[in-house]
Amino acid sequence: MSVKIAPSILSADFARLGEEVRAIDSAGADYIHVDVMDGHFVPNLTIGPAVVKALRPHTAKVFDVHLMIEPVDPYVQAFADAGSDIITVHAEATRHLDRTLQLIRSLDRKAGVSLNPATPESAIAYVLDKVDLILVMSVNPGFGGQSFIPAALDKIRRLRDMVGSRSIEIEVDGGVTADNARSLADAGAQVLVAGSAVFRTPDYRANIAALR
Ligand code: DX5
Ligand code: ZN
Repeated sequence: MSVKIAPSILSADFARLGEEVRAIDSAGADYIHVDVMDGHFVPNLTIGPAVVKALRPHTAKVFDVHLMIEPVDPYVQAFADAGSDIITVHAEATRHLDRTLQLIRSLDRKAGVSLNPATPESAIAYVLDKVDLILVMSVNPGFGGQSFIPAALDKIRRLRDMVGSRSIEIEVDGGVTADNARSLADAGAQVLVAGSAVFRTPDYRANIAALR
């Protein structure tokens, strides 16, 4: 089974976001990865639900929305209404992760949970039945273009074992390149997020193909 590629529009041209989303769609993206940052949980600010809603008509692909915001519960409904398919929250950003995951599923959206590089996989051991996707951060969230933290590989392998036969996708985010894509897939990552590696040159199709 081949790996899915989720280009992160954080590295796109924000002045032409609709066009950029259409371009990665036709270049073969599986998911559209949307990085939402609040300047509090992470030291950067990006976009909110209004932008997700504005982008929705530009593609039929899965909107994979990565919320790096704290608190998160008060905003989940707005991101669901905006057209998110997968809503991923950080385990570190919600005091009651179980409740947050239930909230996402109650809105008929897929529930994702993300782990920062310093957070052990055991943080989600008791919520696996409420999770559709696990997002392993291989950089400290906040910015595109950072270097990959190799300890993520071991975490992905451990998560692969923990997940067992459950239908949970494992996704990795941060510093993913054509050079480390193979080892990430071998470790058990089924979805690769890539910002700079996709948008670094105008040939998005070739860049996505190189990752795959
Ligand atoms: C980092 C974001 C990532 C980022 C990845 O906080 O969650 O999605 O855009 O960018 P690259 O692929 O450039 O590391
Ligand atoms: Zn992300």
